[in-house]
Amino acid sequence: MKIAVAGTGYVGLVTGVCLAEMGHDVTCLDIEEEKIALLEEGRSPIYEPGLEPLLKRNLHNGRLHFSTNLKLGYRNAQIVFITVGTPEKPDGSADLEYIYGAASDIANSIENDVIVCTKSTVPVGTNDQIKHIMNSTKPPNLKVEVVANPEFLREGSAIIDFLYGDRIVIGSDSEWASGVVEQLFIPFKIPIMKTDIRSAEMIKYASNAFLATKISFINEIASICEKVEANIEEVANGIGGDHRIGRSFLKAGIGYGGSCFPKDANALVQLAGNVEHPFELLEAVIKVNNHQHSLPVKKAKELIGSLRGKKVAVLGLSFKPDTDDVREAASLTIVNDLLEEGAVITAYDPVAVRNAQNILGDRIEYTTEIQTALLEAELAIIATEWDQIKHTPLDFFLLYMKEPIIIDGRNCYPLEKIEQYPLTYISIGRPAIIHEYRKSSL
Ligand code: UGA
Repeated sequence: MKIAVAGTGYVGLVTGVCLAEMGHDVTCLDIEEEKIALLEEGRSPIYEPGLEPLLKRNLHNGRLHFSTNLKLGYRNAQIVFITVGTPEKPDGSADLEYIYGAASDIANSIENDVIVCTKSTVPVGTNDQIKHIMNSTKPPNLKVEVVANPEFLREGSAIIDFLYGDRIVIGSDSEWASGVVEQLFIPFKIPIMKTDIRSAEMIKYASNAFLATKISFINEIASICEKVEANIEEVANGIGGDHRIGRSFLKAGIGYGGSCFPKDANALVQLAGNVEHPFELLEAVIKVNNHQHSLPVKKAKELIGSLRGKKVAVLGLSFKPDTDDVREAASLTIVNDLLEEGAVITAYDPVAVRNAQNILGDRIEYTTEIQTALLEAELAIIATEWDQIKHTPLDFFLLYMKEPIIIDGRNCYPLEKIEQYPLTYISIGRPAIIHEYRKSSL
């Protein structure tokens, strides 16, 4: 099939590359010339495991193309995927400017019937509006149908999620359109669910809101565990053993971040408010999550008092491992809170330093070496559970730090292992390990 993809962000690139891999002729379009030039050289503008080899392979075999010429790209496409961003507006609602812009660009360019498939996360009713825009702009002899096809891929495992996802949702009121899109996805051997357009749009928001709720729920239980001297890991295993609940997304920590959960939760609260149904449960989920982000510095102050002039190592900047994305990352709150307390910070991350630097600037030092961050530090705060951090020998904390105090926001180490070392270790929802031993008092 001849496919065009509007927007080369996370979703667009992964969609384009994977559909080319399945044998389709795919053109990915974007207005950013630099990005397209980079992609044409087979280089990915984002860090995503497995993406670049697929990108290179499909460029070389001629199935994948990149262009800034929107008109040419849309002109003869049979299906156009809209994968442009829906950034958050100041009131929490989704900004649909790019979505509607893409819809009118497509309508102005097509020379044959087309199916527009929206993968971007959009509020309920957006696809109806897309259809309206296209029908009022397109040549009268051509047919345009709209399909809501939400994407459930995770950063860091996006290729695997696209190729081997749990389900594919096809929301449309056109049998022709949903049939064509179904044919496109049948070879993936993933269960396909056909729904009406609005239900498909809602499935995406409700999925992310439910996962965010699981996280805030387990984080609240973790806080209670700390007070009653229970261990959140045992508790999560115990409740997750019930298959009706499940163990996934019950990992306690300093809260969710990224470009999806925070934005989508806010947008759903906004959407619910618009139809006069205050979504109090989700509002609480968001409140709990904001609180989690500020836990490490609160815990640090409780333990060591003033942080003024203290050298602190922040380990991990990305919102989760295997991505260089720092959007809404807990690390940003931690760094800002530490700066407010007057701490001196060296932050470590294997891949996200550049993105973090764009937001945090030169107010802190950055490194891609854990040892450098730990050197002479009086406190280490773990914000992301990178393998590099999880596999750091615990000796390093003793060897390099001035005071071996760790606040672990992601429960990276088993307590039994920590207990073998003279470390002070505070994690989330597990008993604190306090060692009176201080290097400085020797
Ligand atoms: C999320 C969803 O998982 C995808 O299904 C969805 O397609 C995507 O949003 C989107 O809407 O585009 P993503 O944001 O890439 O994917 O990352 P997740 O792996 O879901 O993690 C989100 C955040 O939750 C991370 O900060 C992670 O550290 C945190 N988390 C996750 C926890 O704190 N505990 C857990 O048990 C799981």
